[in-house]
Amino acid sequence: MRRAGRPRAGRARYCAPVTVQVEILNGVTDEVVEAFGRLLPQLSGSARPVDAAAIDAINSSPAVTILLARCDSKIAGMLTLAMFPIPTGLRAWIEDVVVDQAYRGRGAGEQLTNAALRLAEAAGARTVDLTSRPSREAAGRLYERTGFQQRDSRLYRYSFD
Ligand SMILES: CC(C)(COP(=O)(O)OP(=O)(O)OC[C@H]1O[C@@H](n2cnc3c(N)ncnc32)[C@H](O)[C@@H]1OP(=O)(O)O)[C@@H](O)C(=O)NCCC(=O)NCCS
Repeated sequence: MRRAGRPRAGRARYCAPVTVQVEILNGVTDEVVEAFGRLLPQLSGSARPVDAAAIDAINSSPAVTILLARCDSKIAGMLTLAMFPIPTGLRAWIEDVVVDQAYRGRGAGEQLTNAALRLAEAAGARTVDLTSRPSREAAGRLYERTGFQQRDSRLYRYSFD
């Protein structure tokens, strides 16, 4: 699951050479808690802070795999893959994808997404779903680049508050 970030010829933007490594979160350390505290606000202004126990509880769910991307050995991004069986098969959802602003444009998002797709395929999922607001333009480009196609489907949400 490790691949060096590759330089893109012809791109106007300068990106320092960097190695991106993707790994599955196995244990919750102070470094992981710091990374969640740094990354979650960059994903959502309304995301509540999570402590070590909360991260451990999420990661202990059999349905959840949290992937971390490291750039220059620092945790630079994360993605949550949720997989659960339902009568029509194994469902797989990609959620909470975020890369630290300081490390964007170096392929971390792409490598996290591709790693999640490989895990879902290996687990037997036939499809992988995600949602993304149109205002998240970089995310839209990322998902289309990695092979996602928009579905003709209605997205519903029921809110309790
Ligand atoms: C969406 C997000 C996760 C993308 O992360 P990222 O690590 O910057 O993604 P990538 O580096 O793989 O791709 C970003 C760009 O860098 C380019 N890139 C990838 N690898 C590269 C490399 N080695 N050198 C130069 N450019 C590269 C990609 O082609 C892409 O260009 P584009 O946006 O013009 O199409 C990030 O912008 C983010 O966290 N946004 C805020 C939260 C969010 O919107 N999350 C998604 C929720 S649905």
